[in-house]
Amino acid sequence: MLTAKEIRESFKEFFRSKGHHIVPSAPMVVKDDPTLMFTNAGMNQFKDIILGNKAAKYQRVADSQKCLRVSGKHNDLEEVGMDTYHHTMFEMLGNWSFGDYFKKEAIDWAWEYLVDVLGLSPDRLYATVFEGSPEDGLSRDDEAAGYWEKHLPVSHIINGNKHDNFWEMGDTGPCGPCSEIHIDLRSEEERAKVDGASLVNHDDPLVIEIWNLVFMQYNRKADGSLEALPAKVIDTGMGFERLCMALQGKRSNYDTDVFTPLIDTISRLSGKKYGEDRQVDVAMRVIADHVRTISFSIADSQLPGNAKAGYVIRRILRRAVRYAYTFLDQKQAFMYKLVNTLIDLMGEAYPEIAAQRELIMKVIKEEEDAFLRTLDKGISILDEAIKVARKEGKNEISGKDAFVLYDTYGFPLDLTELILKENGMALDKVEFDKEMDAQKTRARNAAAVEATDWVVVSEGETEFVGYDSTSAPTRILRYRNVKQKGKEFYQIVLSVTPFYAEMGGQVGDSGWLVNGDDKIEIYDTKRENGQAVHLVKRLPADVTAELEAVIDAKARRATECN
Ligand code: ALA
Repeated sequence: MLTAKEIRESFKEFFRSKGHHIVPSAPMVVKDDPTLMFTNAGMNQFKDIILGNKAAKYQRVADSQKCLRVSGKHNDLEEVGMDTYHHTMFEMLGNWSFGDYFKKEAIDWAWEYLVDVLGLSPDRLYATVFEGSPEDGLSRDDEAAGYWEKHLPVSHIINGNKHDNFWEMGDTGPCGPCSEIHIDLRSEEERAKVDGASLVNHDDPLVIEIWNLVFMQYNRKADGSLEALPAKVIDTGMGFERLCMALQGKRSNYDTDVFTPLIDTISRLSGKKYGEDRQVDVAMRVIADHVRTISFSIADSQLPGNAKAGYVIRRILRRAVRYAYTFLDQKQAFMYKLVNTLIDLMGEAYPEIAAQRELIMKVIKEEEDAFLRTLDKGISILDEAIKVARKEGKNEISGKDAFVLYDTYGFPLDLTELILKENGMALDKVEFDKEMDAQKTRARNAAAVEATDWVVVSEGETEFVGYDSTSAPTRILRYRNVKQKGKEFYQIVLSVTPFYAEMGGQVGDSGWLVNGDDKIEIYDTKRENGQAVHLVKRLPADVTAELEAVIDAKARRATECN
């Protein structure tokens, strides 16, 4: 039986033999693309090549890419742990052709690798093809179906809709029809009873997609229209953990050697066995999954924090701590002890985690300690609220109680909802939202400013160009002098801005206002009375000058487009 390490290497070896250059994984945390917080697919690092903005150094490449799907368009977080095949972080094995080979080779090689090299049984494999989409003016992908017919009987070639068979990176960006390869891992008896074709794309844990071959042909623009790409591109992605499950004859990704050493360590540390109690099993899967995500994020220098990507990581960590606390009785920091096992497993393929062992352990331990201090108190408050609600014959707790947990105890709302769900309860969401709005108003008032009247430089409204650009030529429309916490600033409104404005006391985009050699820092952007207002310490010498508004891409508000 091939080990996970051998499977990863065999993929690279196969595509090397087909003339591909093997490249390293890009970081999992994305720093320079405002539409994406985390790498959600192997193709992300090639986006500029695919769009034709950058020349490809190699026309054929392959790699194993660390990916994270926890926000925006591709978000699997809530499934993780509940089932046996979803993950937050996962590895995607991929091969690419930039204007070189297209559908035929992509399909033939996928088949050759799975069947001839790895020995998967052809009668357990299915391929889906795009059925077409009249609204996008696209017809069925007969070409791909034709290539599949060389390998598979037509009963194993299944039409799929836009949702399953037209792959898009995000709301905008590269996209195209795709063919997915699914595998039926059920027993012979089960297969005799129900035809595998009827279970493809129907959430059966044993009839699952393993490889997606995307035939990139379009760029989805912000207005929703499709524009042809300069060159046709092959973009494939295979779920490494699922492939390991198929090859190692397991029925769960967590039973492969990608995860068993982690589960064994969790079991040893907690004194609980895997496979005896559903809640314990879910907790172990959650922790084994989440410790990978958290460790790899820290290695990519994304620490848990209060905003943007940092907050996503913090929530994931807290989700794991809470499972460890409730179902594995771990009242002390515990997850950081899994880091050594993780590094044994993955440090060779991804040396960055081995190189940062100390930092990863330290950050996780500190986060665990901090959250555990409030968890205890928060859970007893929630238990009490549940008791009171039950006594009153209600099946929901008040939104006020849920808000106190959120605001004072740092319980993410989904955590409260999860605990309630386990108790057959819900919360009064309308009241919760009301509390949240009231809190935002309080925050706004606390940051209240003393302001002069607006000085109008020229009439007009701001044009927002942030969907397409990170910089834009602009002019000042109006400005005013403000005093905030004793300090003086200017608020300015621009004729054109690429800056996102945030509402409700959060932080918006920051960057610069460039005037020749002079760079004025824009600290923040807020929405006030429907307009984007930028905060600066000083005005340009000539307030009527032509300027350039430039976003600090690193600080850009992470949009929910990934
Ligand atoms: N980009 C494709 C996917 O993520 C291969 O499924």
